[in-house]
Amino acid sequence: MGTPDLSFIDDDGEQQNTGDPRVDYFLANVRPVLVDRCIGCHRDGREEAGLNMSSMTKILEGADHGSVLKPGYPEASMMMTVIRGNHPEIDRMPKGKRGPLTDEQTEAIRLWIEQGAVWAE
Ligand code: HEC
Repeated sequence: MGTPDLSFIDDDGEQQNTGDPRVDYFLANVRPVLVDRCIGCHRDGREEAGLNMSSMTKILEGADHGSVLKPGYPEASMMMTVIRGNHPEIDRMPKGKRGPLTDEQTEAIRLWIEQGAVWAE
């Protein structure tokens, strides 16, 4: 009641129950991927391509090529374009030897952006 029905979201059972399903989804399925695969190169002290992903405020400041994420609009978000390897000038993300994200991780980030890109610490 009062909260959106996100029961269609397929979480992996690590729900942390903050009371907001979008926060729970971020903490269980999105934040671990960003921490493990992105933030090492995009953070305070190492802002590759001018991008700092250590907070939503910083993400929304954009990077060398401009806006990185548009909450609600994954298909208009550069973050999705580079994760899929579809940007004409920018390498596929994450860079490095570990390879691209899995389809499941990519879909988790897409869905999170579509649902408003809610952030929590
Ligand atoms: C090993 C370091 C490394 C990792 C890990 C990494 N990046 Fe990057 N990122 C870079 C570098 C270097 C560039 C510049 C590449 C280029 O211009 O082709 C870049 C560029 C970008 C850009 C373009 C910014 C701009 O405006 O030019 C975005 C968006 C981005 N990364 C997002 C991500 C995301 C999302 C992840 C995790 C899924 C990630 N990166 C993981 C090093 C990294």
